[in-house]
Amino acid sequence: MKVTVVGAGNVGATCANVIAHKELVTEVVLLDIKQGISEGKALDIWQTSGINNYDTRVVGVTNDYSRTAGSEVVVITSGLPRKPVMSRDDLISTNAEIVKSVTENVVKHSPDAILIIVSNPLDVMSYCAYVNSKLPSTKVMGMAGILDTARYRAFLADAINCSPKDINAMLLGGHGDTMVPLPRYTSVSGIPVDELIDEATLNAIVERTKKGGGELVSLMGTSAWYAPGAAAAQMVESILRDQKRIFPVCAWLQGEYGLKDIYLGVPVILGRKGIEKIIELKLNKDEMKLLTDSAKSVKEVMDVFDNLNKK
Ligand code: LAC
Repeated sequence: MKVTVVGAGNVGATCANVIAHKELVTEVVLLDIKQGISEGKALDIWQTSGINNYDTRVVGVTNDYSRTAGSEVVVITSGLPRKPVMSRDDLISTNAEIVKSVTENVVKHSPDAILIIVSNPLDVMSYCAYVNSKLPSTKVMGMAGILDTARYRAFLADAINCSPKDINAMLLGGHGDTMVPLPRYTSVSGIPVDELIDEATLNAIVERTKKGGGELVSLMGTSAWYAPGAAAAQMVESILRDQKRIFPVCAWLQGEYGLKDIYLGVPVILGRKGIEKIIELKLNKDEMKLLTDSAKSVKEVMDVFDNLNKK
């Protein structure tokens, strides 16, 4: 069984590393266009196998898609990362070109693969991969919600002084400042979160979560990789082990939540067939308004993408 990770930058290499450590497959192929980088990182990861006791082979290749043939899942991380003062949307024209060509190459060699997109702007790059792959929408999805809820859970764990393992949370919407963390769907070992922290602290955590990626860009001058890479690997695990876990995933909506023809973060059941079900929450009026606003802002960037294609 094989998984390919395209893009051997920090996110791609981290994702390949986590997949190997979890022994999800017999082989992880790490592909990049830059000569030597994927070979080097793959070799470095593979050399941890004896220390960390796993036997998943990690192989690096430069732009040779024939080596990715027959992949069950392909994670696409290619594209430029954000720099300070940039929004994820500023990356669109460059990354749309890259994601289009990567998708076409991937599908040529792995026509049955499930695609997980990590490139930004995430929602629109998922749409770009969907359009160019011609795969069913159940097999093309974006990774954002697991990352964003992981940030939310980490902040909550700090504030409550408890284990993040016990924090269960859901979040909707686009992977940007309009994302919608849902305190009403957040609990700690079954205890509603608002019984453990006051409203002002919770609101501050929600706001911090929305800008969680930006906080890291300001600190490091480039975007994050440990949590994004691990989050993508968790999606690969749920798919390949057919765990059917319920995660927020960027999915193609066809009327769910009253939204149509848009890629947006929603809870799904993630299993061997990809997105096996989209779950519709019973949102209240305020939550629905936040989700609709988020959809509006994603749609604006989707329109920019559609217009790029018309040129
Ligand atoms: C982030 C990037 C990966 O949120 O979008 O850190």
